[in-house]
Amino acid sequence: MNLIYKNILDSIITNIDIGIHAVDENGKTIIYNQSMADLEGLSIDEVHGKSILEIFPSLTTETSTLLTVLKSKKPIYNQRQTYLNNHGKQITTINSTIPIRLTTAKYGALEIAKDITREKELTERVEYLQHELASIDLGDEKLKGYTFKNLIGEDDNFVNTIGFAKKAAQSSSTVLLYGETGTGKELLAQSIHNESSRKSKSFIAQNCAALPDTLLEGILFGTAKGSFTGAINRPGLFEQADGGTLLLDEINSMGLQLQAKLLRVLQEGCVRRIGGLSDIPIDVRIIATTNEEPLETVKKGILRKDLYYRLNVISISIPPLRERKNDIALLVEHFIKKYNVRLNKDVWYVSNDVKQAFLSYDWPGNVRELENLIESAMNMINKEHIIKPAHFSQDVYKVLFSEKTNRYSLNINNNKSLDEIVEDVEKALIEEAMRDTNGNIAQASRKLGIKRQTLQHKLKKYSL
Ligand SMILES: Nc1ncnc2c1ncn2[C@@H]1O[C@H](COP(=O)(O)OP(=O)(O)OP(=O)(O)O)[C@@H](O)[C@H]1O
Ligand SMILES: [Mg+2]
Repeated sequence: MNLIYKNILDSIITNIDIGIHAVDENGKTIIYNQSMADLEGLSIDEVHGKSILEIFPSLTTETSTLLTVLKSKKPIYNQRQTYLNNHGKQITTINSTIPIRLTTAKYGALEIAKDITREKELTERVEYLQHELASIDLGDEKLKGYTFKNLIGEDDNFVNTIGFAKKAAQSSSTVLLYGETGTGKELLAQSIHNESSRKSKSFIAQNCAALPDTLLEGILFGTAKGSFTGAINRPGLFEQADGGTLLLDEINSMGLQLQAKLLRVLQEGCVRRIGGLSDIPIDVRIIATTNEEPLETVKKGILRKDLYYRLNVISISIPPLRERKNDIALLVEHFIKKYNVRLNKDVWYVSNDVKQAFLSYDWPGNVRELENLIESAMNMINKEHIIKPAHFSQDVYKVLFSEKTNRYSLNINNNKSLDEIVEDVEKALIEEAMRDTNGNIAQASRKLGIKRQTLQHKLKKYSL
């Protein structure tokens, strides 16, 4: 080849910001430039002269594009690939792989890769910001414009719940939504509204625990002028949500008298402002939430039975996070992405010990607690890419990483005998097993490796 031509080509290969990798007829690397090395997290020396399968042991003749093209002699253009490189960074590229003629009879293959990781991240950021903007447009403080798309989770029970909720979105029947704190009740209620035929009308959320009943009544039903000193003509939330959805959050906190009034409105389909004379017909879809098991609250006399039946037309419950630990990894990834944007960080994932601690933790605050932990850890991160135990605040650290050891740590300076100390440990272990199995004696005894009868005996002995 003409020397000038070769020099120009060499210079292009060395300086261009596109990854180039060429192999000979045996799949051995003959050209590998710095851009490709940067992309794949390798060094040129590690790759040069080696065969593809030696460099990337996880690939096979079928999955390697270079080897595929070497064999088929057919080019593959513009294929998008997302993978973790050798440094664990997620990379997205657009690749073209082309057969090249080396001699009359021999063919090699050439791959060129354009790094679009940054573009992909920017697109995601724009989408995310658009979503945030939609929330602001709709007025309310934080959670607006959420749809089923925003609900992360692949656990079977969770997917079932979403399935129910999607069906609920097709109708206007009342929904009773049960889930522990932080399981995503408000998110789900929003999603139901935004997927229903009411989506162009208002979604209004009112927390029934936030206000005393006297105030709440006026807010829900409105007031008529003169109904009490200073009262003005004001529509209530039922009227404001006309055609849309009204979320009555924490319905179990509403007083029994107000519950009776609410029941009347739901049954009659019209509302009368406090002090008003006329009934105003309303068309509102009600979603009520409770963070206590609904039938329990009925039993305890906290929720009126008649209201319960009226609300419970469609009943949906969201499983707590400790019962769908498979979803933790997905949620962690989701929140890392979210806070990379918000906090302008470049975090990739959590370390293995954090992952393990997350899996053994109980998550009393559910998804909200997980989100808050990720957010606070990411605030502690500077230029690093991996969330480690050291990034959590002291309180959290104690709970997540030394809970088990602390639980059994005993004060051996006091005057307890060996037998008493052994009993303390035994009691702590039994309490833990009972907690982990939600009080299921059969499961707890299996976990502890003792007979069911023995466990029953010990529960009695320690009055547990
Ligand atoms: N499946 C999910 N996917 C993504 N984020 C979720 C999910 N579930 C909950 N979240 C997050 O957790 C936070 C809490 O959710 P939400 O406010 O809907 O919980 P809640 O059940 O209404 O809690 P509370 O009973 O305390 O009011 C939300 O801000 C949201 O970011
Ligand atoms: Mg809520």
